[in-house]
Amino acid sequence: MDDFEALKKAIEQTLHIHCENYKEAYIKRRLLSRMRSTNTATHEEYLRYLRSHPEESEKLRNALTINVTEFFRDTEVFELIKRDLIPSVLSDRKKIRIWCAGCSSGEEPYSLAMILYDLTNSGTDLSGVIYATDIDDQILARAKEGVYDQKSLKKLTDNQIRRHFTDLGDGTFAVKPHLKAMIRFSKHDLMSGIPIARYLDLVTCRNVTIYFTEGQKNDLARTFHTALVSGGYYVMGKTEYLGREIESLFVPVNAIQKIFIKAP
Ligand SMILES: C[S@@+](CC[C@H](N)C(=O)[O-])C[C@H]1O[C@@H](n2cnc3c(N)ncnc32)[C@H](O)[C@@H]1O
Repeated sequence: MDDFEALKKAIEQTLHIHCENYKEAYIKRRLLSRMRSTNTATHEEYLRYLRSHPEESEKLRNALTINVTEFFRDTEVFELIKRDLIPSVLSDRKKIRIWCAGCSSGEEPYSLAMILYDLTNSGTDLSGVIYATDIDDQILARAKEGVYDQKSLKKLTDNQIRRHFTDLGDGTFAVKPHLKAMIRFSKHDLMSGIPIARYLDLVTCRNVTIYFTEGQKNDLARTFHTALVSGGYYVMGKTEYLGREIESLFVPVNAIQKIFIKAP
């Protein structure tokens, strides 16, 4: 077994991350970033370092499942969700079901909850749920906690901050209970092929599939197709794309912003 194979084995055994689910080049890139930080020159050296420094495991986990996110990431998409997608779902009923897949530390589902709350008379005339899922326990715990530093709130207006957050007085802000009540956070592996729920009106899965192989992306799109109601929306990240093989499952609504509708 070569050093890279030994490292992958260690990752699987200690971090329970299945390397075969990720492109090899991606794993190598992430390993390289940890090797730079730990001043190790080869996979073999890094493996030795990993085994002798227990605190390195978590750092490696974080590097492998990068969780970068922000509130209203890609403003235009959220404008369209607010202006067109959610109003179209709510036009004939007062019920909406959303799946925010790969939600990281919660900024995306809380952004959606703010939109819903503000569009629907403070949520009072709405029965809605946002399923927010991620594979990473630690990041999910942070999402559930919903405490963010001032820098993270840079895209929010003062009015949004005042209405939806409590200033904790130490430079951090806690999401208010009315938003939390709209979201169900849970652990879910998008490679499982199992939808978190059915009869969904909107699935957002943004900046997650860049780590997946073509086949896995196609399988994921099929899972979302099964999860959505007819005419439901699928929103991808701006740099992501639908594979040829499954193009027939979704019709583009806005090709630039990667908004699709489930084909009948
Ligand atoms: C870059 S973040 C994107 C967060 C958010 N969707 C956004 O666009 O800002 C990618 C997230 O996908 C999650 N992820 C990666 N592989 C996953 C999988 N197989 N199942 C569920 N979540 C996964 C990571 O843990 C990470 O939190």
